[in-house]
Amino acid sequence: MVTGVAVGFALEIGFSSLDVKRLGIAATLHDIGKAHIPLLILDKPDRLDPGEEEIMKRHPVIGYELLKDIEDISPEILDGVRHHHEYLDGSGYPDALMAPEISDLVRLLTISDIFAALIESRPYRPAMPRQNAYKILCGMDGKLERPLVKAFRNVALVV
Ligand SMILES: [Fe+2]
Ligand SMILES: [Fe+2]
Repeated sequence: MVTGVAVGFALEIGFSSLDVKRLGIAATLHDIGKAHIPLLILDKPDRLDPGEEEIMKRHPVIGYELLKDIEDISPEILDGVRHHHEYLDGSGYPDALMAPEISDLVRLLTISDIFAALIESRPYRPAMPRQNAYKILCGMDGKLERPLVKAFRNVALVV
Protein backbone atom coordinates (compact mmCIF):
# COMPACT_ATOMS: atom_id res chain seq x y z
CA MET A 1 0.00 0.00 0.00
CA VAL A 2 2.73 2.50 0.94
CA THR A 3 4.65 1.68 -2.25
CA GLY A 4 1.62 2.24 -4.48
CA VAL A 5 0.79 5.54 -2.80
CA ALA A 6 4.42 6.73 -2.85
CA VAL A 7 5.00 5.87 -6.51
CA GLY A 8 1.72 7.55 -7.45
CA PHE A 9 2.81 10.63 -5.53
CA ALA A 10 6.28 10.71 -7.16
CA LEU A 11 4.72 10.45 -10.63
CA GLU A 12 2.19 13.16 -9.75
CA ILE A 13 4.90 15.67 -8.86
CA GLY A 14 7.14 14.72 -11.78
CA PHE A 15 10.06 12.93 -10.13
CA SER A 16 12.63 11.55 -12.60
CA SER A 17 12.23 7.87 -13.40
CA LEU A 18 15.36 7.10 -11.35
CA ASP A 19 13.90 8.85 -8.31
CA VAL A 20 10.51 7.17 -8.78
CA LYS A 21 12.33 3.84 -8.73
CA ARG A 22 14.36 4.77 -5.64
CA LEU A 23 11.26 5.92 -3.81
CA GLY A 24 9.43 2.73 -4.78
CA ILE A 25 12.22 0.58 -3.37
CA ALA A 26 12.53 2.75 -0.24
CA ALA A 27 8.77 2.45 0.30
CA THR A 28 8.87 -1.32 -0.12
CA LEU A 29 11.71 -1.66 2.39
CA HIS A 30 10.98 1.21 4.77
CA ASP A 31 9.59 -0.89 7.64
CA ILE A 32 11.83 -3.93 7.17
CA GLY A 33 13.28 -3.26 10.64
CA LYS A 34 9.93 -4.34 12.09
CA ALA A 35 11.03 -7.89 11.28
CA HIS A 36 13.12 -7.62 14.46
CA ILE A 37 10.39 -6.16 16.68
CA PRO A 38 8.71 -8.76 18.94
CA LEU A 39 5.36 -10.00 17.62
CA LEU A 40 3.78 -9.27 21.00
CA ILE A 41 4.36 -5.60 20.22
CA LEU A 42 3.71 -5.72 16.46
CA ASP A 43 0.43 -7.60 16.83
CA LYS A 44 -0.76 -5.98 20.05
CA PRO A 45 -4.49 -5.36 19.71
CA ASP A 46 -4.33 -2.18 21.85
CA ARG A 47 -2.25 0.96 21.74
CA LEU A 48 1.38 0.48 22.81
CA ASP A 49 2.48 1.54 26.27
CA PRO A 50 5.49 3.91 26.49
CA GLY A 51 8.03 1.09 26.92
CA GLU A 52 6.67 -0.80 23.92
CA GLU A 53 6.56 2.41 21.93
CA GLU A 54 10.26 2.92 22.65
CA ILE A 55 11.07 -0.54 21.26
CA MET A 56 8.84 0.01 18.21
CA LYS A 57 10.66 3.26 17.49
CA ARG A 58 13.88 1.33 16.93
CA HIS A 59 12.62 -0.10 13.62
CA PRO A 60 14.08 2.62 11.31
CA VAL A 61 17.61 2.13 12.69
CA ILE A 62 17.25 -1.65 12.66
CA GLY A 63 16.19 -1.48 9.01
CA TYR A 64 19.09 0.81 8.19
CA GLU A 65 21.54 -1.56 9.86
CA LEU A 66 20.09 -4.54 8.00
CA LEU A 67 20.49 -2.86 4.60
CA LYS A 68 23.51 -0.61 4.89
CA ASP A 69 26.12 -3.10 3.71
CA ILE A 70 24.14 -4.35 0.74
CA GLU A 71 25.80 -3.06 -2.42
CA ASP A 72 22.64 -2.52 -4.49
CA ILE A 73 20.97 -0.40 -1.82
CA SER A 74 21.68 3.25 -2.66
CA PRO A 75 22.24 6.00 -0.05
CA GLU A 76 18.86 7.52 -1.02
CA ILE A 77 17.08 4.29 -0.15
CA LEU A 78 18.97 3.97 3.14
CA ASP A 79 18.02 7.57 3.92
CA GLY A 80 14.36 6.71 3.34
CA VAL A 81 14.46 3.62 5.53
CA ARG A 82 16.20 5.42 8.39
CA HIS A 83 14.31 8.70 8.24
CA HIS A 84 10.70 8.00 7.28
CA HIS A 85 9.52 9.02 10.78
CA GLU A 86 11.34 12.37 10.85
CA TYR A 87 9.36 15.65 10.80
CA LEU A 88 10.40 19.06 9.44
CA ASP A 89 10.14 20.64 12.91
CA GLY A 90 12.63 18.20 14.43
CA SER A 91 10.03 16.30 16.47
CA GLY A 92 10.51 12.98 14.65
CA TYR A 93 12.85 10.05 15.18
CA PRO A 94 15.43 8.46 15.26
CA ASP A 95 17.76 11.41 14.52
CA ALA A 96 15.45 14.39 15.23
CA LEU A 97 16.40 15.85 11.83
CA MET A 98 15.29 19.37 10.92
CA ALA A 99 13.81 20.45 7.59
CA PRO A 100 17.08 21.18 5.70
CA GLU A 101 18.34 17.69 6.52
CA ILE A 102 15.25 15.94 5.24
CA SER A 103 15.42 15.07 1.53
CA ASP A 104 12.53 15.32 -0.92
CA LEU A 105 12.43 11.55 -1.23
CA VAL A 106 12.02 11.20 2.53
CA ARG A 107 9.35 13.92 2.61
CA LEU A 108 7.27 12.07 0.04
CA LEU A 109 7.81 8.76 1.79
CA THR A 110 6.70 10.14 5.16
CA ILE A 111 3.50 11.63 3.75
CA SER A 112 2.73 8.42 1.84
CA ASP A 113 3.41 6.24 4.88
CA ILE A 114 1.17 8.22 7.24
CA PHE A 115 -1.64 8.28 4.70
CA ALA A 116 -1.39 4.58 3.84
CA ALA A 117 -1.38 3.66 7.55
CA LEU A 118 -4.53 5.70 8.18
CA ILE A 119 -6.54 4.23 5.29
CA GLU A 120 -5.70 0.67 6.34
CA SER A 121 -7.34 -0.96 9.33
CA ARG A 122 -5.26 -1.71 12.41
CA PRO A 123 -6.01 -4.21 15.18
CA TYR A 124 -7.02 -1.27 17.42
CA ARG A 125 -8.94 0.87 14.89
CA PRO A 126 -10.86 0.56 11.62
CA ALA A 127 -9.64 1.96 8.29
CA MET A 128 -10.28 5.68 7.86
CA PRO A 129 -11.96 7.20 4.78
CA ARG A 130 -9.46 8.87 2.42
CA GLN A 131 -10.94 12.34 2.98
CA ASN A 132 -10.46 12.10 6.74
CA ALA A 133 -6.93 10.78 6.37
CA TYR A 134 -6.06 13.64 4.03
CA LYS A 135 -7.49 16.13 6.54
CA ILE A 136 -5.13 14.76 9.18
CA LEU A 137 -2.15 15.35 6.87
CA CYS A 138 -3.37 18.92 6.30
CA GLY A 139 -3.43 19.41 10.07
CA MET A 140 0.20 18.40 10.46
CA ASP A 141 1.45 21.83 9.53
CA GLY A 142 5.08 22.41 10.49
CA LYS A 143 5.79 18.69 10.40
CA LEU A 144 5.08 17.99 6.73
CA GLU A 145 5.86 20.27 3.79
CA ARG A 146 2.68 22.19 3.06
CA PRO A 147 3.08 22.47 -0.76
CA LEU A 148 3.78 18.74 -0.91
CA VAL A 149 0.68 17.93 1.14
CA LYS A 150 -1.27 20.16 -1.24
CA ALA A 151 0.13 18.28 -4.25
CA PHE A 152 -0.72 15.00 -2.52
CA ARG A 153 -4.42 15.86 -2.71
CA ASN A 154 -4.60 14.45 -6.24
CA VAL A 155 -3.15 11.17 -5.01
CA ALA A 156 -5.14 10.99 -1.77
CA LEU A 157 -8.59 11.74 -3.15
CA VAL A 158 -8.61 9.68 -6.35
CA VAL A 159 -10.83 6.58 -6.65
FE1 LIG B 1 7.95 2.94 10.00
FE1 LIG C 1 5.31 2.31 7.62
